[in-house]
Amino acid sequence: MEIDFPMNRIRLLAADLDGTLLGDPAATRRFHEAWVATGRAQRPWLVYNTGRRVSNVLELVRNGLLPEPEVIIGSVGTEIHMAMDPTVARRYPARFGSDWNLGIVEKLVARLPGASRQASEFLHPFKSSWIWPAASPARLQVLNGELRQNGVKASVIFSSGHLLDILPAGCDKGHALRWLCAELSLPFTAVAVAGDTGNDSGMFQLPGVRRILVQNALPELTEACTGLRCFVATHLMADGVIEGLQHFGVLRAGPKTQLAPLAENLA
Ligand code: GLC
Repeated sequence: MEIDFPMNRIRLLAADLDGTLLGDPAATRRFHEAWVATGRAQRPWLVYNTGRRVSNVLELVRNGLLPEPEVIIGSVGTEIHMAMDPTVARRYPARFGSDWNLGIVEKLVARLPGASRQASEFLHPFKSSWIWPAASPARLQVLNGELRQNGVKASVIFSSGHLLDILPAGCDKGHALRWLCAELSLPFTAVAVAGDTGNDSGMFQLPGVRRILVQNALPELTEACTGLRCFVATHLMADGVIEGLQHFGVLRAGPKTQLAPLAENLA
């Protein structure tokens, strides 16, 4: 698809929601105002890249909490909604392979000590999600092995120290963003990403993207970014995103978004 993007160097912002654009209502409001004030022709495309269902994000937008995005990548990279091209929602999952088997995944994970299934509103046929506080790198490795032995090719994503998502192989927030960029013929160097937890690491690892780590980013994400150039915000959540976007010249500093001096570090 050929999109007529504005000349701004960053033409697409992919931002996580919980703990990044959401979490501090006043900061979310500041982001919303700063985004809309920038004007459609000057600002990049806005992509929410979240663990939430697309339907839930659409509700947040309808309620006026978040500005209207061009794209929603939902359910940790397993759903994509693009208002201007409704075929995307059906073309994207068509690539998930026949080696995905939800029944086997559910059976294997249900046997894990201390793992409980998330509420049904968080699940769908390509996303098996659990709460598993007892997870450890060794236990995750065993689970990966069991999935493989049972003929299931899956991505196992662990975040926030207790949330487990099992998705079709080659599927996470990073792969979904990669697919979207290919669809839009957009190089990664024209993309900024923002996030705070482990399930964001796939998008931070795309080569050439500008990375915004909000101040509250967890070690599980900062460690995954070792050796990658990142902007480390001094502010929390949506304020940290505003700060990063000011650093990259996407948003201008204004009276409503007066933030502390910027700091650039290697994460
Ligand atoms: C969101 C989703 C949840 C998922 C988590 C981590 O909170 O609602 O299902 O496990 O993100 O990816």
